[in-house]
Parts: sequence; structure tokens; C-alpha cells
Amino acid sequence: MQQELIDLKNQALAEVSDAQSEDALEQLSTRYLGRKGLLTGLLRKTGTLPPEERPAFGQLANQVKKELEQALSQASERLSSAGRGTASRRGVDPTLPGIRPRRGRLHPITQTERLILEVFNRMGFQVVETPEVELDWYCFEALNMPPDHPARDMQDTFYISDQVVLRTHTSSAQIRTMEKEKPPLRIVCPGKAFRRDSDATHTPMFHQVEGLMVGEDITFAEYKGVLINFVHQIFGPEVPVRFRPSFFPFTEPSAEVDIGCVVCKGDGCRVCSHTGWLEILGSGMVDPNVFKNVGYDPDKVTGFAFGMGIERIAMLRWGIDDLRMFYDNDLRFIRQF
Ligand code: PHE
Repeated sequence: MQQELIDLKNQALAEVSDAQSEDALEQLSTRYLGRKGLLTGLLRKTGTLPPEERPAFGQLANQVKKELEQALSQASERLSSAGRGTASRRGVDPTLPGIRPRRGRLHPITQTERLILEVFNRMGFQVVETPEVELDWYCFEALNMPPDHPARDMQDTFYISDQVVLRTHTSSAQIRTMEKEKPPLRIVCPGKAFRRDSDATHTPMFHQVEGLMVGEDITFAEYKGVLINFVHQIFGPEVPVRFRPSFFPFTEPSAEVDIGCVVCKGDGCRVCSHTGWLEILGSGMVDPNVFKNVGYDPDKVTGFAFGMGIERIAMLRWGIDDLRMFYDNDLRFIRQF
């Protein structure tokens, strides 16, 4: 009788899955589960079994009943949702390709940041990260920027309080690192910087990568070598590089690094203001005063530091002419990278 039950179940399930309409399901339900139905009939015969077999049979019968009810309600759902159109009459076609989940991708700024860090990693620089909300000491004072320095103007800096600012550059990472660690060191620090500025070439928040290399005999030649190597790895080995004398309070001598304009190849165009050159970073040999501020002996160690805007590098790599595109989150823009 157990076998009879199982056969009945298989037959019923097959008929349910073949059913083409709600009506057909209705009929099947009556045929098997109705008061005079086949399953019901079989259940009535439980009494004819030897007493010891009854519980097991009863259990199985209940299970069959449940399965059948479930199959019926699933079939009914399938029929009602696929009711329109002949192709879908039989419900889901499992051989059709599924709907692919959309893949995310990295923002162009993230991609560029990772690329820059990779290049310096290969030259032995380690990545550190330091706070965006910073004490005056790390952002200005220790970097040889006295309280009357123009960069501290309220026009340029977001002040949280008298002594607390949103860092205006990642150079604070130089001080944070040197205070904690002994030379020699080679670090790069990526992160956000903030300035009160907003137009096609400035956003109040932007990204920088800071770099610092300090040791017993780090020379100007080393400084130039590392940065030229960096430029060549990012923009290609044939790109011209020049060091243009400049000023930063925390480096002496200081230089801005320019590359031959990637748009006009040096002929002069709007992008390079007809100079043939594009500035990509600020840099210099670490000022002895900075070493004193962190307890390093300027007679024993030398070093160089640099800082670059990630947005700027990304714009030059891809020829993007409006900085604000990076933050509009327009998918038509972001999907291109
Ligand atoms: N902090 C400087 C800036 O934001 C860049 C810089 C870093 C210059 C390190 C020299 C050395 O413009």
C-alpha cells in the first residue's frame, strides 16, 4: 500500500506540472485531494493495515498530501504570472540566460590613486594614512608655517576651532610619520585634502598623495631620479620632465615638477596656457627646520618630499577638462573608466 501511495504521488505531481490552466489544477485538486479523491480514498484504507504499520503509513500519507498541495499552489502561481503569451505558457524556461547582476567598478580617482601608490611601492615606499581632521601643529606649525603665514588665512582653510582644521594638504603626514618613526623611511600617504575653493579647477575637497624619503645621504640626485622615474611610469618614458624652482615653507630648495603637455606635445595649447608644460606636483628637499621640529638631527639626515593632486593626474591621463565631473556621479561619465 505504501508503494501505491508513492505511485499515486508521482502520477499526481506529473499531472500538476503538465497542467496548462487554473481550471485543470482545480480538477486535479478535486481528483486527488477532494472528499472522494484518490489520496483520500487511499487514506480511508489505513484501517485495513496491521496496526503496527498504520503510523508509518499515516505519516507518509500526510507528507504526500503536503507535497501535493504545495505543487498545486506553485503551479497556480506560475500559471497566473505567465498567463500572457504562448511562449511563457509553460512557465519559466530554465535554458534562457539569466539576468546578469551589474558589476561595480572603481572610480577614476581610486584607480589613479592605486596606480600612483603601486609605482611608489615598487620603489620601496610604504603606504601610511593620517587624519583628515588635523591639529594646527601637523598641518602648519611643524611644517615651518608660522601663525602669520598666508596659507593659514580663513579664506583658504576650513577651521573647526582655533587649533583644529581640515587638513589643507597631506603634508601633515610627513610630521605624523617622522614623530613616530626613526629614519631611514620611505612613505607615501594618499588621502583627502580641503580648501575653501570652488570652480572648474578647484573643489573644496580633493585628493593628494604625499611622499617622503629620509635617510643619511639622500641627495638631490635621488630626489630627481625617483620623481622622473615616477613620471615615466605614469605618462610614458618619452614624456619630457622639468624641475622648475619654486617655494614651499617646508622644503629648501623647492621645485614644481612639470611634464611636457600631453595634449599638444609641447607646441602650446589652451590646456597648457601656451607654455608647452603642465605642472603635476610640488616637491623639494626637506627643510632643516622641519627635521628639528620632529626631533631629527638635520646634520645627520637629509631627504625629499613631494605632494601631488590625484584629480590633476587623472585629468591629464584621460584628457578630462572639468574637475567637477569626478564628483557629479553621472554614470555616463563614470562608466567610461
Ligand atoms: N603640500 C604642497 C601642496 O599641497 C605640496 C608639497 C608637498 C610641496 C611636499 C613640497 C613638498 O601644494
